[in-house]
Amino acid sequence: MCGIVGFTGTRAAAPVLLHGLERLEYRGYDSAGIAVLHDGKIQVEKVSGRIAKLCEKTKDGSNVPGSVGIGHTRWATHGAPTDQNAHPHVSNDGRFAVVHNGIIENYLELRKELIRDGYVFQSETDTETIVHLLELYYDGDVKAAVMKTAARLEGSYALGIVCTDEPDALFAVREASPLILGIGVGENYFASDVTALVSHTKNVIYLEDGEFARLMPDSVTVYDCTGRELQKKVSRVTWSVEAAEKGGYEHFMLKEIMEQPAAVKAALAPRIHDGRIKLDGFEITSEELKDVNKIVITACGSAYYAGCSGRYAIERLCRIPVQVELASELRYADPMVDDHTLVLVISQSGETADTIAALKECRARGAKVIGVVNVVGSTIAKLADHTLYTFAGPEIAVATTKGYTTQLAVLYLFALYISDKLGRIDAESYAALVKELQHLPRKIQQTIDMNWQLPNVASRYSSHSLFFIGRNTDYAVALEGALKMKEISYLHAESYAAGELKHGTIALIEENQPVIAVCCNEALMDKTLSNIVEVKARGAKVLALSFKGNKKIVSQADDVIFIPRAETVFSAALAVVPLQLLAYYAAKEKGCDIDKPKNLAKSVTVE
Ligand code: F6R
Repeated sequence: MCGIVGFTGTRAAAPVLLHGLERLEYRGYDSAGIAVLHDGKIQVEKVSGRIAKLCEKTKDGSNVPGSVGIGHTRWATHGAPTDQNAHPHVSNDGRFAVVHNGIIENYLELRKELIRDGYVFQSETDTETIVHLLELYYDGDVKAAVMKTAARLEGSYALGIVCTDEPDALFAVREASPLILGIGVGENYFASDVTALVSHTKNVIYLEDGEFARLMPDSVTVYDCTGRELQKKVSRVTWSVEAAEKGGYEHFMLKEIMEQPAAVKAALAPRIHDGRIKLDGFEITSEELKDVNKIVITACGSAYYAGCSGRYAIERLCRIPVQVELASELRYADPMVDDHTLVLVISQSGETADTIAALKECRARGAKVIGVVNVVGSTIAKLADHTLYTFAGPEIAVATTKGYTTQLAVLYLFALYISDKLGRIDAESYAALVKELQHLPRKIQQTIDMNWQLPNVASRYSSHSLFFIGRNTDYAVALEGALKMKEISYLHAESYAAGELKHGTIALIEENQPVIAVCCNEALMDKTLSNIVEVKARGAKVLALSFKGNKKIVSQADDVIFIPRAETVFSAALAVVPLQLLAYYAAKEKGCDIDKPKNLAKSVTVE
């Protein structure tokens, strides 16, 4: 959701900025722009629509000379996605240009004040107030103007600023919106996430809230909000350039589906030593655990659905009550969380605004918070008491796949670890389940290999409306399967707990209604089978998903997709894979923009 990049060096800035923006495309946007300093002036080029249009307009940056600049992809919040509202915005005197991620909550009040002072607005955006404030507070000292401006802003912002009076400098400001500085040789950068930096440098500084930086081609200085210089740690990014590229696949989503065996292995392997689970320094004693009376899992979207699967694993193995809450609800629910609650906050990006707010609510009530996060150094990773990284690598497609399965892997590890700590599992079962976890990457690979026929199946089951049903662990998978289908293929898909059908929704079943039935929970197999019979009796066409060798299902369903047999408690990590592929092929057949579905952003950094 919005992306910003900045570059200062000695080579042409515009191509670097455009390339960086392309890397950030996956976050979701509807307009794009760049501003480059040259000969004491700022040249701004912006367009509504895709970056390709901006590349065309600027002849790949060649008609925007200069070696210092900023760029932006905008996801419209205040004002329509027009050229006018696209960033960068420029001050009335032409001295400053600004790009901004986030929302300025007091912008109406600031706008009124600035209009009263004679400033003329060109756009409807909240961002434009920032550039006029910079002009207002500027008295020859850019750093001071940046500080005074930031002090007036309420809300969330990552800012990139250039000023004609400091022609080699970039300013970067962070408050509640991600911003990372890239440290190069004779050139420096900033970006909203590391995928825009890795092709230039692996050395980065994570700015914290309330900090800002001045970047010159050969120096980077970071300050706190009072202007005091800070000594910041330079971290090394482990993600490779290749990991952020398509590598021969038609879409990032397909590549990321195929990467799941390796990603799940990366999440599991470093945490299993000699058959025992160790959670990267996360220690909790049996005594501390006995003091925990419930676990709350909070997240948004697919991460929430990963939490729904995790709940079954934790409750079954640990016998601790688990409550799974949507972060956007929990944050306003005056939650019943206290210092006897253990909270798991799940987020691929680590930057989801609602999830951050829910985390803060829980911490304020004294709960211990564990983050399950993919992006290293992200806000949630920093705010949590302890973070278990999912090690999925960069996930570029907007619809999460490996982000989700690696979250499951970490939740399974967590469930087994806690169960053992509490003495709720015998040594033999523990050893068997650890072994089963170690087999998961191989079984995910088998699942992918077994499902080569999915493009045909997808074409037969693509319909304007689909039902996904399942019970218990299978219901959690059905939730995620339906979301995948909706978000990338734009087909209406709903998930129901299979036992709930007869309480209302079965009324919707008519001739040829596609129903995807997830039947991987052996203990509940017969129950789900009777739901299949019920919907078939009303004309439904049933595609069942079950483990290989399940003969009963073959006799009842119209079509069956198989996964390898697995321990029920971990089966979601396998069962979800064919559903991801089903959604992928349905979307492909419809010609949808699979990696960048309409109206969606990868990282939802505003409420
Ligand atoms: C769906 C999807 C979203 C995210 C949700 C939370 O495919 O990707 O539903 O799961 O926006 O995002 P994170 O995990 O970054 O907090």
